[in-house]
Amino acid sequence: MTILSNGHLWKHSEFIENKNFLFDKNKILSVLSKEDIDNAYLSISNWERYSPTPLIELNKLSKDLNLNKIFYKDESKRFDLKSFKALGGAYAVEKVSKGSKDIVVATATAGNHGRSVAWGARRLGLKCKIFISEFVSDARGNAMAALGADVIKVKGNYEKSLIECIKQSTENNWQIVQDVAWKNYMIVPKYTMAGYTVMMKEILDQINQNKISHIILQAGVGGMAGAMIAGIARYLKNIPETIVVEPDSAACVMESIKTGKIEKIDIKRESLMGGMSCGEVSLVPWEILKNSVKYCISLPDDDIAKTMRLLGNGNFSNEKIIAGENSAPGVISLIACCEDEEIKKKIKLNKESNILLIGCEGDTDEEMYQKLINQK
Ligand SMILES: Cc1ncc(COP(=O)(O)O)c(C=O)c1O
Repeated sequence: MTILSNGHLWKHSEFIENKNFLFDKNKILSVLSKEDIDNAYLSISNWERYSPTPLIELNKLSKDLNLNKIFYKDESKRFDLKSFKALGGAYAVEKVSKGSKDIVVATATAGNHGRSVAWGARRLGLKCKIFISEFVSDARGNAMAALGADVIKVKGNYEKSLIECIKQSTENNWQIVQDVAWKNYMIVPKYTMAGYTVMMKEILDQINQNKISHIILQAGVGGMAGAMIAGIARYLKNIPETIVVEPDSAACVMESIKTGKIEKIDIKRESLMGGMSCGEVSLVPWEILKNSVKYCISLPDDDIAKTMRLLGNGNFSNEKIIAGENSAPGVISLIACCEDEEIKKKIKLNKESNILLIGCEGDTDEEMYQKLINQK
């Protein structure tokens, strides 16, 4: 009996197809240009201690699911920050500072983006102010303080921490380095996305001529998903089936794809997939995602801890993988799609399929990671 045929059903909540799907490479690259993408790779690949993160084959899982190959991009090995976010915030800090040592950078964050900004500031010897909501764990706050940032806790949620960040930055002439775009604030979020595209360049070099047939992309505000799609437009010859996965409590990309315009979600319950618990898709990624995401899927939290444990025990691959809460949904949605015959047929998952999953993070919050993998 395989790990998947033990009677457990892998759940998804909703699955939809985008009626406005039209993957237009030129249009995508008019939002995030080839030059933006190439400049990011040129800079980041020259950073001290840069090396590509591993692309691991989930060979046991592909055998169980009767698929050709499943590639898992393991971002737990990204610098010492254990998350793809290290590519975005730190690169944006470098671009914003333009070589000056006198500026102060500031950001509001749920954790990983701020860690990247703090790390990027330390790399360049800049002062850094990080605003966090009262709901961000002490472990995450301490990790940013350990990188030399001043961490300021704000009463209320993420929005409140962003308002305070903007207020104090305006008063003190600090440079805001935010990963989320809003009207008149698009350039810096574009830099963060350009940084994320480094993953796709590495993947192109790692897949050895294999053709990716499907890519599953986690989304919070959509920055990572948008960046990876821009990376596909820049680097791949073919166009894989593009699938966005979100928590069912915060499926802001899915709801926006349904109506063709940005829809705001009122989050009633915070998902375990913390980095993906976002109520509104960001403007820059939306310009990419609205036509180039083919399918959206949403998930409950039910299978997150179990999937982290299976990845950690080496049940899906020869090696053990440290996968955080936001890394599990790619694997879960792939299994859930394979278990649903109708979806499996619709999205053409079969023995020729090569699926790319993004393991966005490792144990970025070690305490939480241990708690989840030890859950019975
Ligand atoms: C740690 C973390 N934060 C955030 C996100 C979401 O990224 P974005 O907000 O760019 O969509 C992810 C993955 O999707 C993640 O792993």
